[in-house]
Amino acid sequence: MALLAALLATVLCLSSQIKAQLVVGFYNSRCPRAESIIWEEVLKAFLKDKGIAPGLVRAHFHDCFVRGCDGSLFIDSTPTNVAEKDGPPNGITLRGLEVVDNAKARLEAECKGVVSCADILAYAASDSVVITGGRGWGVPAGRRDGRISRAAETIDIPGPFQNLDQITQAFAKKNMTQDEMIALSGAHTIGRSHCTSFSNRLYDFSPANSQDPSLDRFLAALLKIQCPQGPQGDVDPNLVVPMNRSPALFENSYYRDILAHRVVLTSDQTLITSPESLSEVREYAFNEREWQEDFADAMVKMSQIEVLTGTAGEIRSNCRVINP
Ligand code: HEM
Repeated sequence: MALLAALLATVLCLSSQIKAQLVVGFYNSRCPRAESIIWEEVLKAFLKDKGIAPGLVRAHFHDCFVRGCDGSLFIDSTPTNVAEKDGPPNGITLRGLEVVDNAKARLEAECKGVVSCADILAYAASDSVVITGGRGWGVPAGRRDGRISRAAETIDIPGPFQNLDQITQAFAKKNMTQDEMIALSGAHTIGRSHCTSFSNRLYDFSPANSQDPSLDRFLAALLKIQCPQGPQGDVDPNLVVPMNRSPALFENSYYRDILAHRVVLTSDQTLITSPESLSEVREYAFNEREWQEDFADAMVKMSQIEVLTGTAGEIRSNCRVINP
């Protein structure tokens, strides 16, 4: 009997370690001003540059999809390691990371070695949604920072040329459903895209159609002006366009744009290629509140992918460099 009780206790203890939970209000006693310092830094940066908000929301997604939400996105490359931030989907398209550096510097001065870079980004993403008019969420925290960051692993991040099945699979690999993926894609209601993320739809779509027939022709004409081809047929990799007509406003017009074939990325347009996904896009297009709620719930779930807690990993003192 005693043996059975000991066995049960060990199993319970092990399972609680495996499921180490993040909690809302994690820093209330550990570093009481942490959340307000992060909010101040996000707000200050946003007032100078509205692109900070979409940059931080996307950065959180990219951090979570590679080795979990462990702040590995911030680590700089070294002569012996090409880090995530220099992997194909990141590079020049990332923005807003300096906001996390600034918040980190203030937090280290306030409570040294307490607040992880991964948590700062999770808060900053929620703040960014609130600042642009969306519904925030209680951010579960207590993440620790990882010590590994490899560009090759960014292959886990879905790409703009992928179809519904491929994107659904990329999310399933992270234990996220297709419904959650569709809700999260609504983040594309803010921000910008580089022309090279969709220029194939304008000039080089298929042998039969140089232009993607699923792209509204008026939008295509506008995008061709914004993203002209150079003499060699290439498009300047630095050119960007807004994701939609209100790129600093977190609202559900993204879904109506999909229905009207007025979204720039193939990966967005592909969301209406199955009856089930089409019906979810329709639902969100006409039910703002439902989407905002589902978006927030899916963000909370995404933000807990493969997190490090307890004594795993570290609290980096500089988000760009692993501790010595
Ligand atoms: C479903 C699969 C997804 C694909 C294929 C995808 C792809 C992309 C691409 C290609 C861009 C443009 C980047 C550039 O050229 O500058 C972009 C921008 C963006 N993505 Fe996604 N994304 C996906 C899902 C998500 C999710 C889940 C989120 C967040 C929850 C997100 C948030 C954003 C934001 C906010 C931007 C604008 C970034 C900025 O303005 O700097 N995306 N995405």
